[in-house]
Amino acid sequence: MTAPKNEAPPLEAAALDALRAQAVEEIGGCSDLSALGELQRKYLGKQGVLAGWLARLPSLPPEQRPVLGQGVNRLKKELTELIAGRESALERAALESAMGGPFDASLPPAPQERGSLHPLTQVTREIEDLFVSMGYQVADGPEIETDWHNFEALNIPPDHPARDSQDTFYIRGPGRLVMRTHTSPVQVRALERLKPPLRAIAPGKVFRNEATDASHEHTFHQLEGLVVDKGVSVAHLISSMKTLLRGIFRRELEIRLRPGFFPFVEPGFELDARCPFCSTGCSVCKQSRWIELLPCGLVHPNVLRASGVDPDEWSGFAFGLGLSRLVMLRFGITDVRLLLSGDLRFLEQF
Ligand code: PHE
Repeated sequence: MTAPKNEAPPLEAAALDALRAQAVEEIGGCSDLSALGELQRKYLGKQGVLAGWLARLPSLPPEQRPVLGQGVNRLKKELTELIAGRESALERAALESAMGGPFDASLPPAPQERGSLHPLTQVTREIEDLFVSMGYQVADGPEIETDWHNFEALNIPPDHPARDSQDTFYIRGPGRLVMRTHTSPVQVRALERLKPPLRAIAPGKVFRNEATDASHEHTFHQLEGLVVDKGVSVAHLISSMKTLLRGIFRRELEIRLRPGFFPFVEPGFELDARCPFCSTGCSVCKQSRWIELLPCGLVHPNVLRASGVDPDEWSGFAFGLGLSRLVMLRFGITDVRLLLSGDLRFLEQF
């Protein structure tokens, strides 16, 4: 180690005192952290002033070395502490000025903005938990679907009138792709991939080319359910739907089935439940005391066949829960368009 040649004061106590006075003054007057870093290097660094002093000690007569050596080491310790103290004072000052005042640990914290889960996410997760607890798996499918999965495999051939009611967005270009109009194509994908016996639900976005109003939106959410096993009947369908309703509304609701037509189920039903909001009629049930809850039915043999499943061996039921509508019912939301509006005034309420 060599001392910087240009600052080699005589090795004596008076010079060390002078050095101390200078260092203390410089450190005390230092008002920013990077300058303080330089002072540290200047005095305490490997090539620093004190290192230079120590390196030159061996040139002193042996009897003088201990006294001066101890003096240098004391000064080293003193300056180290001074710099550390100055550093925390400067850091604290910087923090306080950033916070606009001194820090008081006893003050309550400043209010924090917290996010929350979208109501659709909340309800989806709740229903997923319910079905997973009954041995269902959660399946998924693409939002841009083939004509085959969205229609044909679901027993809806090209000229079938049921296509009109689905107000489809077609994707231009090759491949006959559509924005899926319902979550039912996931039935086909689940059957193709998993093979029976199977129980699956599939929540997701669906799209319809519709004029929008308070109860119609071009993009909304459904939750599909599918059970295929041996000997599955309408009795299984009804009991599963009752469990679903208990899970959602947290009490027993009377239900009724009306015939409903969907090409991919036979027989097909519309399931209504007693209005959970009134006992004498209200605006939600339009005074009828029933609310239309979900279409469902036994999986049509053609759907099983299209997915490579033998309808003589297997049977199943399917249902299509309108998630958007359910979320609206649950939270008393009166305009479906709010759900995907991204409007914070709406979202902050959840
Ligand atoms: N996919 C149908 C629709 O959106 C609903 C449905 C699902 C009907 C499953 C019966 C069984 O119109």
